[in-house]
Amino acid sequence: MSLKSIQKEREYTKFVVDERLCYYEPSKNKTEKTFVEELSSSLNQKQKSIHPKFFYDKSGSELFEKICKLPEYYLTRTEISILRKLDDKLSAYMDEEFRLVELGSGSSYKTRILISIFEKLQKRIEYFPIDISKILKESTTTLLDDYENLHMTGIIDNYESGLEFVKNYDDKKNLIVFLGSSFGNFDYEPGLRFLHKINSSMKDGDLFLIGLDLVKDTNILEQAYNDSQNITAQFNLNVLSRINSELDSDFNVDKFAHYATFNDSKNRIEIYIRSLENQIVNITKAGIMLEMKKGELIHTENSYKYTIPKIEEMFSNTGFRINELWFDDKQYFCLALLSKNG
Ligand code: AVI
Repeated sequence: MSLKSIQKEREYTKFVVDERLCYYEPSKNKTEKTFVEELSSSLNQKQKSIHPKFFYDKSGSELFEKICKLPEYYLTRTEISILRKLDDKLSAYMDEEFRLVELGSGSSYKTRILISIFEKLQKRIEYFPIDISKILKESTTTLLDDYENLHMTGIIDNYESGLEFVKNYDDKKNLIVFLGSSFGNFDYEPGLRFLHKINSSMKDGDLFLIGLDLVKDTNILEQAYNDSQNITAQFNLNVLSRINSELDSDFNVDKFAHYATFNDSKNRIEIYIRSLENQIVNITKAGIMLEMKKGELIHTENSYKYTIPKIEEMFSNTGFRINELWFDDKQYFCLALLSKNG
């Protein structure tokens, strides 16, 4: 598919791929920290860490797709099972034409379930995925072929800027969706700030659908992040291979191990990379000589699990009204439908 036209709008450049597909990319170089800058600071702290957003290079994204299909990783299939039953329940809140705005454009399978709900309600469906990943271009192209009535505007940017873009776009009502318990990877305070941001990007009448993983038996939680095929371990350790190839470092991945545990005082799975021996790693492009002691941990991710009182508190503190909380039979996962509290 060729790019038919390019035009500049606000601080974005618009690329028109087809009359039903365009995408926007920020024109200016944003002042976001680079991989090198972030690592230089996070590996220099007392508790060394690598931000989980760095998991998702090509191999990391492929490994994550595999995680979503693992028997132990109940999150994806449970959320899908709730989404599949939403049809009439969600339609009841869509009294006029809505646009589907998705934070992240990962698995288009869930998007397809939502599109099929929209298809029953309106002739023309507008879909705005927001994602920093260029994967967005691939996923929208596939959807274009499958749905004749789908009009897509991809925003290749971070969620905050993408939400600002949508807010200023027009008066059409938006259903903003944030699925997969990706919100669980935010720490508590940044998570609240992000919910405030979503809330302030919404107009009265807009809806927000968010997927949240719930607190449950510790064994079930820990198995989901310590699967028997070691895919989660590969996913976690892949970030070291990424640093090796992008920042010219000499991590010997065999000298590190995956470690995931449930912290029940904080209701979160904590994921680390453990050094199996005393070692020194050079990260040439970052000018880092990293000293690791045997047993020392690099923190790579938190994945928060929620209780219903916590969900209610979190949303009422960030300006939302809960319209519905939808669960699966085992109450493993929750989809919350929210409106701006007027
Ligand atoms: C993307 N996110 C919701 C996943 C989670 O469950 O927190 C990332 C993940 N990390 C290890 N397994 C899955």
